[in-house]
Amino acid sequence: MAHINDNYRKLPGSYLFSEIARRVSTFQAAHPDANIIRLGIGDVTQPLPQVSVDAIKRAADELSHAETFRGYGPEQGYDFLREAIAAHNYKRRGLDVNADEIFISDGSKCDCGNIQEIFSLDSKIAIADPVYPVYLDTNVMAGRTGSLMSDGHFEGVIYLPCTADNNFSPSIPNEHVDLIYLCSPNNPTGTTLSKDALKDWINYARANDAIILYDSAYAAYITEPDVPQSIYEIEGARDCAIEFRSFSKTAGFTGTRCGYVVIPNQLTGAAADGSRVPLKNLWLRRQTTKFNGTAYIVQRGAEAIYTDEGQAQVKALVGYYMENARIIRDGLTTAGLTAYGGVNAPYIWLKTPDGMSSWDFFDRLLSEANVVGTPGAGFGPCGEGYFRLTSFGARDKTIEAMARIAAM
Ligand code: MLT
Repeated sequence: MAHINDNYRKLPGSYLFSEIARRVSTFQAAHPDANIIRLGIGDVTQPLPQVSVDAIKRAADELSHAETFRGYGPEQGYDFLREAIAAHNYKRRGLDVNADEIFISDGSKCDCGNIQEIFSLDSKIAIADPVYPVYLDTNVMAGRTGSLMSDGHFEGVIYLPCTADNNFSPSIPNEHVDLIYLCSPNNPTGTTLSKDALKDWINYARANDAIILYDSAYAAYITEPDVPQSIYEIEGARDCAIEFRSFSKTAGFTGTRCGYVVIPNQLTGAAADGSRVPLKNLWLRRQTTKFNGTAYIVQRGAEAIYTDEGQAQVKALVGYYMENARIIRDGLTTAGLTAYGGVNAPYIWLKTPDGMSSWDFFDRLLSEANVVGTPGAGFGPCGEGYFRLTSFGARDKTIEAMARIAAM
């Protein structure tokens, strides 16, 4: 008899964004004329930067000749991209990250979900609440948690509440944990962690021999100069932090797929026999076994954003979405709603009116305004009573959505 992994049964029936897609298509089927505006999943709508398109075409041409054809690439990514990332995102900003510490992937979702495999099943995990559901769901699947309790929490997980009262900045737990998931700019609240907050986390991690799993997929959206873009801007982070970054939101690669993980050479974890093992070696072993690398043409497309022209195009793309964020934030505020985020992130986090539940607000917005957002409760129990809108829509649709919400 083939027994299933029963841990999967602890999870709600479907992944958050699949459930939203299901509800939207049910609504659309019942109301075929409804002109639905989708500001739910954070999927980009604007074209790839032209430099990336050109680089992808050139790379595809290379593959059409035997002399320049490439088959399997290195699982950890081509050196040309690893070096461009190290130079541009780290060295140029005075940060000590080397190309051999960078692992290219097909996106941050996979990396954030897979990283837990290199840690012991009895690791104690701490997760911000609300946050991107992949961190928690993958730990549930792995069996690192107990069951879902009636309060929406999983047994055995240390939740770090992020509410308006603490400016959506998680507090240090007063107990020991081994793995800490932090996300800044945060998905879904659109808020960021300050340098001081990160210093506290790094001090905690070093004192507890813990590892911080730092997701900064939205770093390109930071507009305020004092907000850290990388955890390695904080002293001591190389001893205790892994960083995740993505081209999805930076350069419109949600469908093209490219991301990367930084694992510093000196970062180690404890083995059962007490010895210390470099985490980078374990990740390399995992990737070489389970992953065959990101497509060459995609890596060439990603590399192209590090040219001067590429940087200008990426800046324009991010600027476009950040103007949408401003329109959403201002529109919500004018409509009398309380909104957070949207300044250093493409997400706006709003308090639902009249104490409505997140899912009730979702249904109301969909049926009355034909606008799709994401219920805050889907990101964790502390997201209940909140709602997320994304600024990744087209400009005209974003403006139209705000007019419809105001009319409600
Ligand atoms: C989101 O909407 O939270 C993101 O698009 C999900 C993702 O990046 O996987």
